[in-house]
Amino acid sequence: MGVLTGWEAVSRALYAIGLVTALCWGLQLARWCWGGFRVYVLSSFWKTDLRQFGQWAVVTGATSGIGRAYADELARRGLDLILISRSIEKLHTAAKEIESQYGRQTHVIQVDFTKGPSIYPIIAEKLQGLEIGILVNNVGMNYAGMLVYFLDVPDPEKSITDVINCNMLSVAQCFKVVPHRHKGLIINISSEAGSQPQPMLALYSATKVFVTYLSRSLTAEYRMQGITVQCVTPCVVSTNMTHNVEVGPLVKSASAFAYEALNTVGYSNYTSGCLLHALQHIALCIFFPGWLRLSTFCMRYTEKFAQSWRQEIEAMMARSAKKAD
Ligand SMILES: NC(=O)c1ccc[n+]([C@@H]2O[C@H](COP(=O)([O-])OP(=O)(O)OC[C@H]3O[C@@H](n4cnc5c(N)ncnc54)[C@H](OP(=O)(O)O)[C@@H]3O)[C@@H](O)[C@H]2O)c1
Repeated sequence: MGVLTGWEAVSRALYAIGLVTALCWGLQLARWCWGGFRVYVLSSFWKTDLRQFGQWAVVTGATSGIGRAYADELARRGLDLILISRSIEKLHTAAKEIESQYGRQTHVIQVDFTKGPSIYPIIAEKLQGLEIGILVNNVGMNYAGMLVYFLDVPDPEKSITDVINCNMLSVAQCFKVVPHRHKGLIINISSEAGSQPQPMLALYSATKVFVTYLSRSLTAEYRMQGITVQCVTPCVVSTNMTHNVEVGPLVKSASAFAYEALNTVGYSNYTSGCLLHALQHIALCIFFPGWLRLSTFCMRYTEKFAQSWRQEIEAMMARSAKKAD
């Protein structure tokens, strides 16, 4: 074998580095694909038995949307339900429907999560003596129901406090007041909006970062005590919050979402909830990174989009008001 020239040695070293890098990326890609397959596909065949956590499940914001869908799915999987929400009529209707449809027991607790710390002793008292296995911290609100500048909401002082109380305080306080057995499951509903800063959804997205970070830290803190904390970060689900946008290739119905998200319990503690939203998350990270979202160029488009969306929502609301007349 002859002695390598300088150039040959450099090109062989570069070739070796390239090969190792490609191998590492390949292995990483294979790990992601296997992880995704396990969490979103295998999980639908081998579901975790949710009754192992205890007899009762508590769901906050349980009368409509994702919370109601979680309550239905938990009842279908054999749990009794404690429904917490703001409107007593809606609570009684939901409880009756769950009892007759799934034959499970229910309790209701009427509280308004915007009211701050005073409501938690009431919740704690009503939960006493029940064997609670699952808590779904679902309740959440956006301050305007559409994309707006931070201070362009009616009564910003009240809205800011309400959103913080409802989206953040509820998650931390309910974790504290719901009695934990040695084996329990806490599901915290965060949002894709919490994975990157979101101009024109500023406060909402900031509250969801809080939920995500709190959940992920609690996962590590309480794992050894047998308590599972799962953080779920959906993209768009058709609910009142999203003005019941049509279900389609990018939008899940609440019931399909809750079904798939509950399948992921035991497979992942930090999940988009369903395959469709996991793929959207990856696409958003690649094609719409933080620096682009925050650029002035993008802000102009977000502003235009917000305007046309607002007009569409107003027209939709006018149409449904006309229908109701
Ligand atoms: N929909 C989405 O696309 C989406 C995406 C990502 C994350 N999320 C998150 O998913 C969760 C549920 O959202 P959703 O779309 O299902 O909302 P939704 O359809 O507006 O339902 C909200 C539920 O919470 C209750 N609620 C609202 N404000 C309350 C308050 N102050 N006190 C007590 N209960 C209150 C409502 O009860 P009443 O009817 O009695 O008011 C209702 O049962 C939220 O945390 C949201 O941030 C939603």
